[in-house]
Amino acid sequence: MCGIIGYVGDRNAVPIIVEGLKKLEYRGYDSAGIAVYGADSFDIVKCKGRLSELEKQLAGHSLASHMGIGHTRWATHGEPSDVNSHPHVGSQNKIVVVHNGIIENYQQLKERLEHRGIEFASQTDSEVIAQLAEYYYNGDLLDTVIHLSTALEGSYACGIMCLDEPDTLIAFRKDNPLIIGVSEHGQFIASDVPAVLTDTDKVYYLDDKEIAMLRKDSVQFFNLDKEPIEKTLETITWSFDSAEKGGYPHFMLKEIMEQPKVVRDTVQSFADDGENARIIEKLDIANFDKVVIAGCGSAYNAGVVAKYVFEQLCRMSVEVELASEFRYKDAIVDEKTLVILISQSGETADTIAALREAKSKGAATLAIVNVVGSTIAKEVDFCLYTIAGPEIAVATTKAFSAQLIVLYLLALELATKRENVTDEVRQSLRDDIAALPDKIAEILEHIGAIQKYASESVGSKSIFFIGRNIDYAIALEGSLKLKEISYIHSEAYAGGELKHGTMALIEEDTLVVTIANCASLYRKIMSNAEQVISRGAKVLLISNNPEAKKSVGEFGDGSSEPDDRLSLISLPEINELFSPSLSIIALQLFSYYVAANKGLDIDKPRNLAKSVTVE
Ligand code: G6P
Repeated sequence: MCGIIGYVGDRNAVPIIVEGLKKLEYRGYDSAGIAVYGADSFDIVKCKGRLSELEKQLAGHSLASHMGIGHTRWATHGEPSDVNSHPHVGSQNKIVVVHNGIIENYQQLKERLEHRGIEFASQTDSEVIAQLAEYYYNGDLLDTVIHLSTALEGSYACGIMCLDEPDTLIAFRKDNPLIIGVSEHGQFIASDVPAVLTDTDKVYYLDDKEIAMLRKDSVQFFNLDKEPIEKTLETITWSFDSAEKGGYPHFMLKEIMEQPKVVRDTVQSFADDGENARIIEKLDIANFDKVVIAGCGSAYNAGVVAKYVFEQLCRMSVEVELASEFRYKDAIVDEKTLVILISQSGETADTIAALREAKSKGAATLAIVNVVGSTIAKEVDFCLYTIAGPEIAVATTKAFSAQLIVLYLLALELATKRENVTDEVRQSLRDDIAALPDKIAEILEHIGAIQKYASESVGSKSIFFIGRNIDYAIALEGSLKLKEISYIHSEAYAGGELKHGTMALIEEDTLVVTIANCASLYRKIMSNAEQVISRGAKVLLISNNPEAKKSVGEFGDGSSEPDDRLSLISLPEINELFSPSLSIIALQLFSYYVAANKGLDIDKPRNLAKSVTVE
């Protein structure tokens, strides 16, 4: 979390940094700030609140410089406030820093510095980096950064400038992402590629414990022994357009609408000559007697869907773990286990830790990642990419859909290798998956009913989501989407569990979104729906079952007239194993329109961030 950017070059750094921060705001938006090199001091403008607040403040300053750094914050240590905003400058006003990560030993370092009379201005862990740097500084910023790297514990991606070195911007990292952009007019540091894409498509990916020294016309890389290192300059192949709203009111809606293409592209990556197909080919499934899937948030929910698909197709037992739990549980995995890590960003701290834990135990690791060149993509044994393009809205939509596709196709290939499915069945299932983009497009063309229902649900205090089997798995994601962006309390339950407690929460007009695509369990889930309706609830049924239309008239007073306590969003028919890919479209749209009707900041929900690079 937190976004950092820096620039040194021929142009004025201020507008470049502000534009870069706009692309990084998804990483945190508790406060924002900028520091530029001035003749006698650094000019620093920073404040609590969104970037728009910073822009207002900047309007009152005539800031200009060839070099500067900027930051957008997701608070960890110290409340969101002006003083806790980055950049942080040391008390001699000599060194200024932006930081993404957590300095775990900051308290000890701070106490040591305070004993030497250094006064701290903020409550952040990050300020210690600037203060310590000033304390270490011996006339060489590179030496200082090397010294810092040995003293700091925890995770960090930093940009740093020193008043005595007017031409030098340094970046260094451990366990948090940083890229270096190279353009004709200057050099950049940034947390993520979209921040530099207006100016350049040429980037270096900085690795852990590497240092980049940027000057107007050059970038040099060093290791912690101060030895120069060679790195490969990469060309970004996706366009800047994909990081723009393209006429939609929110990135989230744009990204929902992109899903037919994203799903099609991801399916294509498993065609015979596709990159993902080639990776899977190398996987020797006969080696494994167990599959464990780990991820956080929606990525975890994709894992829960996958458990049903893998177990059904591969007849193997699959465990799904929250990465934050897996990393500390001394998991029972060994070289006979395939551990699958799912992560859009490839930078989630808990998922990275789960990957390292699995590797340390000798397990084979496979990741499903969206961001090319991310930490997980680099460290994992096998990496399958979701072809979703950059996802900007904090609440994931298209990357989740792409994860499902990769998981279906992975399960199918493993089932084929294990001879659990015949070639004919394999082909027929692949055809079902290939049909998904058109069916998703069909839902997207008929969003009126969802919009209407969402507008009527704005006042709900709590909304429950129920389903059985794989419908339960996707109910988890539907519920998460809703609470993330609409701030309405929500839980998902397996239909059969309602009677064990949750039923006590059902009141007059409580909304229960009921997902009913599993044909063999249709009657069962409808009987759960009936139970909540008879206790006063309203049910929104999301189903592709031909019975569903009839069911709408069967409840309540027993008449055949539609019951106003039961509404239906009809989905196209599909093999039930892949039905989550259709249910989720309706669920995303429902959440989106509830939040839109409430007038909320959908792309940047309060207290959240897209890329959670801290524990
Ligand atoms: C954050 C995002 C979620 C995402 C989760 C895991 O909480 O807001 O949308 O599912 O992180 O992120 P990852 O990048 O690992 O998929």
